[in-house]
Amino acid sequence: MHDLSRPDILSILALAKKFKNTPKAPTQAFSHKTVVNLFFEPSTRTRSSFEIATKRLGASSINITSSSSSTIKGETLIDTAKNLEAMNPDVIIIRHFSSGAPYVLSQVLKTPIINAGDGFHEHPTQALLDMMTIEEAKGKISGLTVLIVGDIAHSRVARSNIYGLQKMGAKIIVCGPPTLIPPDIQKLHVGVSHSLKEVVSKADVIMMLRIQEERQDRIQFPSKREYIKYFGLTLDTLKQAKKDVIIMHPGPLNRGVEIASEVADGPYSVILNQVTNGVVVRMALLSMLMKAGKIE
Ligand code: CP
Repeated sequence: MHDLSRPDILSILALAKKFKNTPKAPTQAFSHKTVVNLFFEPSTRTRSSFEIATKRLGASSINITSSSSSTIKGETLIDTAKNLEAMNPDVIIIRHFSSGAPYVLSQVLKTPIINAGDGFHEHPTQALLDMMTIEEAKGKISGLTVLIVGDIAHSRVARSNIYGLQKMGAKIIVCGPPTLIPPDIQKLHVGVSHSLKEVVSKADVIMMLRIQEERQDRIQFPSKREYIKYFGLTLDTLKQAKKDVIIMHPGPLNRGVEIASEVADGPYSVILNQVTNGVVVRMALLSMLMKAGKIE
């Protein structure tokens, strides 16, 4: 999202909308195309929606996970990717625990690479599906205030949404304990708060994030109970919110921690709409890359 322009984003979202408004039947336009899903971290939503998107376009996909690849025998990521490229796939999708892994591959391969989440860095397709969901629910993105709450420091979703939503004219406020907000976050021109109750009334969109315990060598706040008290989104906290606020979460949810079940399943929640939109956003990206090798 750092590198995509506003016109790039608009053309991806326009094509995604077109796919959403057309019947589900797979087209045969891409029947000769092959997509490789290379996932070095667990995933439910991203991997399966890339696979469904590929199938709906009529293309074929293969799935490789860290445990099923020869990287566990000592092969480097670049060698693995070069060997996959030697089989002439049309797109390689990668999720990797190292920030920058998709960028490195894009420098050594000719095959288009899609970043499905890299370390703390970015999760661009998540940001695109989030933008589509916001625009559907609110009719616009420009001028909205988006409040991103939780573990900002370890969140690739937060970073991609900050870059993308700002390009689309939204104002961003991040909220979380000081230890979970990067000290130089102000360089990204966002508002910062350490109290959800203080800022909840300002938001048109509230995006809740999971605490990424797998990316922390030690827990960065005194206790989970305290975290829930100050940063968990409950029905009680929502009483201070705008009447037309929408609640988002990239998943997976930790119910009862960052979000109460009554909120996640309640009338303000668009969490499953995000998942639905993930398929068409990924269809849009894949079809652009399989047609032209670039976003256009
Ligand atoms: N939102 C997201 O990336 O979910 P998964 O980890 O299940 O793909």
